[in-house]
Order: sequence, then C-alpha cells, then structure tokens
Amino acid sequence: MKRIGLMGCGKVAAYGHLPVLHASEDWDLHAIFDPDAGRLAEAAERFAVPHACTDVDAFFQAGLDAVAITSPAPCHAANVADAARHGCHILCEKPLAMDEAEGTDMVRAAAAAGVMLATGFDYRFSPVSMRIRDMVSARVIGDVLSLRLVYIWNCHGKYERDAGGHPVEQARRAGRMEEGGPMVDCGVHQIDLARWWLGSEVARWSAAGAWVDDYEAPDHLYLHMDHECGAHSMVEISYSYCHTTKEPLKRFLYELIGTEGLIRYDREAQVFEVRTPQGTERLPFAGEKNFAGMYEAFYAALGSGDLGDLPSGRDGVIAAKISREATNAAMAGRLNL
Ligand SMILES: NC(=O)c1ccc[n+]([C@@H]2O[C@H](COP(=O)([O-])OP(=O)(O)OC[C@H]3O[C@@H](n4cnc5c(N)ncnc54)[C@H](O)[C@@H]3O)[C@@H](O)[C@H]2O)c1
Repeated sequence: MKRIGLMGCGKVAAYGHLPVLHASEDWDLHAIFDPDAGRLAEAAERFAVPHACTDVDAFFQAGLDAVAITSPAPCHAANVADAARHGCHILCEKPLAMDEAEGTDMVRAAAAAGVMLATGFDYRFSPVSMRIRDMVSARVIGDVLSLRLVYIWNCHGKYERDAGGHPVEQARRAGRMEEGGPMVDCGVHQIDLARWWLGSEVARWSAAGAWVDDYEAPDHLYLHMDHECGAHSMVEISYSYCHTTKEPLKRFLYELIGTEGLIRYDREAQVFEVRTPQGTERLPFAGEKNFAGMYEAFYAALGSGDLGDLPSGRDGVIAAKISREATNAAMAGRLNL
C-alpha cells in the first residue's frame, strides 16, 4: 500500500476522491488537510482518516508517498509547491493552474523535486472515453475530422433561497465564475479529451461568448480548435442553460465525426453508439467521470514511474492556458452596445 494525503476537503473530495481512496486496497488514506476545521473533522470521521490537520507542516509530517490536491484552483500552486518540497508525488485537480506561467512553474517545481505531477482529468478514465480513444486509434470511423463536445447546464442556478426564503446569489456559482467561468472550470476536461483522443495538439483556436447571467466572464462559451492533424474540435460550455425554468435541462454530448462514420455519446439519453457503413452498434453506457480508474492509474504510475494514460502536468497547463485565453479573448471581443 502507498500512503496518500489529501488537501482540500470540499465537494469534489467528498463525492469523488475520498470515497475511492477510503475503499481502495492500494491506497492508505493517511492524512487530510483543510484550513476549515469543521469540514476537516467531518471528512476525518466519515472516511476514518488517522491524521486530520489544519496545519500544513503537521500534514506532511504524517509521512506520505503521494498527495491529492482538491483545493480551489487559486490554492493549487502553493499546495503543489509544498507537496513537491516534501518529495510527494502529486495528483492535482483541474484547472491545474490559474494561467500558463503559474502552471509552468508547478511543472518545473515537480521535475526539480523528482516527483510526478498528474492533472486530475478523471473524464479520461470513463470506460466511454477509453473506448473512444481505442476506436479513434483503430480508425473505426476512418479519419476523425470533427468533434462536437457539449456540456451545457445550470451550475446549480444563479440564485438560491436563504433561511428566510429570500433569493440570494448562489456562492458556489459566483465563485466558479470568479475563477474564470465554465470554460476554465469545466471545459478544460473537453479540451483535454480532444487532444488525447486525437493524439494531436491544438494549432490555433478562437472563442466567442454570451453573457446570459452577466458575470464578468461569459457564462456560455464556444471554443473552436484546429488540431495539427487537420481535425476541428468545437467545445460548447454553459452555466446558464435554463436555471430560471421550472424544469432545467442538461446536455452532455460527445460527437466524433469521421470519414467512415460517427461516434455518439449522449449522457442524458444514456446512448453510446457507433454508426458506420456496416450499421449501428450500441456500446455499453457509462458516466463521464471515473475517479476510481484515475486512482488505479496513479497507483500504477508510482510503481512504474510512467504516467501512462494519466494526464501530465503539461496536459493540465495546456488545457488551463487554452481555456483561460479563450475566456479572455471572448471578454475582449464582447460588443460594447
Ligand atoms: N474533476 C471533477 O470532475 C471536478 C468536479 C468539481 C470540482 N473540481 C475541481 O476540484 C477543486 C475543488 O472544487 P470543490 O468544488 O470541491 O471546491 P470546494 O470549495 O467545495 O472545496 C474546496 C476545499 O478546499 C479547502 N481549502 C481552501 N483553501 C485551501 C488551501 N490553501 N489548501 C487546501 N485546501 C484549501 C476549502 O476549505 C474547501 O474545504 C477545484 O479545482 C474544482 O475545479 C473537479
């Protein structure tokens, strides 16, 4: 078993990382850190963690092989620097960094310390993503030339009700908008998938946004990426998909269009299929996330010294850079009516 500690006991830690680490036969969930003593105590009790620390030094003194970082994005750089200084391998949530310069420093710090730095793009490990990667490389639909990757939802709404029943701005949504909005927060997954499935870097991109709820960053964005292999990816991301309606909808789609067919994943309709000249094959459906698969890969990487399918720090920097610059470009291009 390898000893792992986790920094940041919030939402994604509680539903994604901690349950997997607690149940794992590979990982010994040995320590957790959070500046919020209440959240820390709750997580320590629920997941039976022996060392629960509000002090960073005490956290690392617990003796760790690896660290999972699930703090808010602006804290990632300092968390990574601390983990690298203590010789721990690192799996850091997305977006890895606030911008390219910060991410590059994080990659350098990990390399200088001789530790691995992986970015937590758990979508790669969904059986659906893995199957798509395998089908693309086996040319099941010929040359893949166009990708449509859509995740549009309400991000829990712009408003919630306070104790007195009055509508107040929802802090979780506002916080995500302040950190960069939906492309930086969610679209990084799709940017990573497009590069990984195609095995091809982004040669150039353009972006346009819409301001449905009017935060500083656009809450509905379109990103167009041309890859070096000649394929085009369109990523559409929104936090403003009908939060005001009585029955809000979500749409989560992967569509890969090739010279010999179509691969289509529709999460809401629970459809995963490939259409070729030979016919249509329904494939086993799965959700888009897989934290357990990601931690299996991280454990294997510690043994082999090779990240394998795990997204590297560089993968995290590229997605963070494109998403941030695309958001900034959309803001700069906003019509001043
Ligand atoms: N991979 C996914 O599917 C996925 C899903 C949701 C969120 N995320 C990412 O995970 C990260 C956390 O998101 P969340 O929604 O759980 O946030 P959250 O606000 O619910 O939780 C963050 C936690 O980090 C703690 N924290 C604050 N400062 C810290 C510091 N300096 N060091 C360590 N911990 C600190 C907070 O007290 C809080 O408990 C973000 O980067 C987010 O983008 C990823």
